Amino acid sequence: MDETKGRIVIAGSVNIDISLAVSRLPGPGETLLADAISVSGGGKSGNQAVACGRLGGDIALVARVGDDDYGRLLMANMAEAGVNTDYLTVDPVAPTGQAYIGVAASGENNIIVVQGANGQLLPETVKAALPLIQGASYVSTQLEIPLATVHTLSELCAAHKVRFVLNPSPVAALPDELLSSVSILVLNEHELAVLAGPGDEAAQLARLLGRGVGQVVLTKGGDGVVLADKNRTAHYDAFKVDVVDTTGAGDTFTGALLVALSENRDMAEAIAFAQRAAAIQVTRRGAQDAVPWRAEVDSVTWPVNEQR
Ligand code: RIB
Repeated sequence: MDETKGRIVIAGSVNIDISLAVSRLPGPGETLLADAISVSGGGKSGNQAVACGRLGGDIALVARVGDDDYGRLLMANMAEAGVNTDYLTVDPVAPTGQAYIGVAASGENNIIVVQGANGQLLPETVKAALPLIQGASYVSTQLEIPLATVHTLSELCAAHKVRFVLNPSPVAALPDELLSSVSILVLNEHELAVLAGPGDEAAQLARLLGRGVGQVVLTKGGDGVVLADKNRTAHYDAFKVDVVDTTGAGDTFTGALLVALSENRDMAEAIAFAQRAAAIQVTRRGAQDAVPWRAEVDSVTWPVNEQR
């Protein structure tokens, strides 16, 4: 093991994604015919973990699957990516989480998640993973698991001085007590609007920082990334690529960001690395299936983004 590389712990949801390729996303009450259906590994934390593994991170996943073929497929994906699965447990009753995803020809998607075994990732389940969390550099989660478990993770991180990273998706109102424990909040514009309320982007970012978040990383798809902390607001342009499917792009971005930070790269470098990984991801179909390997990201010859 590379002793200079910090350990990353991802705790949260793993799903099987049932993706339907459609010409456009349906409106309320509308029936559409799909052009194709595919089944692959997903879940926001599962995707982040695969990204960390394929990109060379020291990564462990704390999650829960059902005792079914979907759960076994997800375990195989983790093994292929080199993810430590000592705390990927099997629920004897609840099925593996599932996500039903419409993917439009534009690459946009909408997602409905059936929580399944992710709903059984309870506070005591993550407390049992304390040996992993102690001494980790980063613990990352999202909101597809019980909120009580998210609170427990934040408390464990505070008690053991581990940086706590949150992707607030699916977005929900969060108390200041939780937000103030977040070192890095990675979110999109929709999530920013819900968490920070009305106003322009600068006011919204300032409001989140005012509530105690350490750094905000706002992902804006084709409009790039904004980093805000108490010292600066910086914008990083997006790479121009042909978008096929945006599923899991934010998760790959977060996983890649964590890998670069765990290698002690600075935030601007980490964002550039994460943008490269996510840009490759969106040119392919699926979530975990589309995550690039380290050699692919390192061989990208696109120019480094200019900071505005
Ligand atoms: O972020 C994309 C993921 O959201 C999908 O893989 C799906 O499983 C849902 O968790």
